[in-house]
Amino acid sequence: MNPPKKYKIILVAGARPNFMKIAPLMNALKDHSTLEAILVHTGQHYDEKMSHSFFDQLNIPKPQINLEVGSGSHATQTARIMEKFEAVCFSEEPDMVLVVGDVNSTAACSLVASKLHIKVCHYEAGLRSRDRNMPEEINRLVTDAITDLFITTSADASENLISEGILPENIHMLGNLMIDSLVSHLGLASTQKLNLHDVTGNSLDLSWRTKTTPYAMMTFHRPSNVDEEDSLRILVEEWLKTAELMPIIFPIHPRTLGRLKHFELFDRLISSSNIFLTGPLAYLDFLKLVSESALVITDSGGIQEETTYLKIPCLTVRPTTERPITIWEGSNQLIHPENIFTKSKQITEIPKVDYEVPKYWEGQSATRILNLLQSY
Ligand code: UD1
Repeated sequence: MNPPKKYKIILVAGARPNFMKIAPLMNALKDHSTLEAILVHTGQHYDEKMSHSFFDQLNIPKPQINLEVGSGSHATQTARIMEKFEAVCFSEEPDMVLVVGDVNSTAACSLVASKLHIKVCHYEAGLRSRDRNMPEEINRLVTDAITDLFITTSADASENLISEGILPENIHMLGNLMIDSLVSHLGLASTQKLNLHDVTGNSLDLSWRTKTTPYAMMTFHRPSNVDEEDSLRILVEEWLKTAELMPIIFPIHPRTLGRLKHFELFDRLISSSNIFLTGPLAYLDFLKLVSESALVITDSGGIQEETTYLKIPCLTVRPTTERPITIWEGSNQLIHPENIFTKSKQITEIPKVDYEVPKYWEGQSATRILNLLQSY
């Protein structure tokens, strides 16, 4: 007798913040009896540091298919992904396409699948910043408009979907996969020996880091912060002032490095001996440095969630967040760029508060999601 046909799911990963969401799912799907997983990497991020090191450290199997689309304008990148992903859907004939997050790969692949009448499952559905200047908000809206099965990370995201007319029976709040990855790697990260380099490739001396030296971790890459000269100039001046309060470790995103050099602000930034610039970090190095920091200053999406779990104060330099639960039930605050120094100083002066992390942000989300997919 032939073995029963497995239900075939294509999982899509494209850019750095996708990888820690895909990792626990791929691991849980290994040798599954009824579900067959095919991992497609769109190649939206392609560097050793932005992509490959995450696959190694998070133990994600090598993608069966890499579309190798690379960088480009939004339209070019999205179009390239769609064209190549359509061919994959024709040859693989999946029963479902599962997309995560809000990057261009998420919207492109869900659009392709939906038009081929393949079921679309969106993990991290329903997040809304209500700021349509963010490319990610457009990706979220487009994806959720054509998704069949919605998996959310918090109750407010489920409510957003209901208010947009999605049937409640298609929405499942199952927790946070990013926290699954964090929980399972935190121990390993803490033993990690750091061997970082500055942006010119020289070894970066972080020997001043001791348990008693508070420092800030910082990341910036949002186009709205770094793409224009005026806003980037304000940020640089605030970073320099804040570095007088405590050392800042700044793994710099290629977009931000490029803009700093373009506007001739890079030399001003490196005039501070208390800002430790390095390239994009591998997952374990980043986790170690964030978990041991006193403060995080960022404009990222996912880091707001990681700091909420770790109970490390997080200043998010954005006017809105699609993750308000990290403010209500976490350590996050939204701030204006001009207030980075003042708010950082305040944080160093007040004691840390304790709280309960959001529901299901405990490391078991992949199991819940697999149970759902199995019964779907
Ligand atoms: C993308 C996502 C954003 C996510 C971010 C995390 C969209 C619309 N944006 O933004 O939501 O928060 O990833 O990093 O999908 N580059 C490299 N190596 C790489 C990839 C990119 O050097 O592996 C450089 C290229 O010069 C590229 C620039 O970084 O032009 C920006 O990359 P891109 O993928 O366009 O957008 P991100 O800003 O990374």
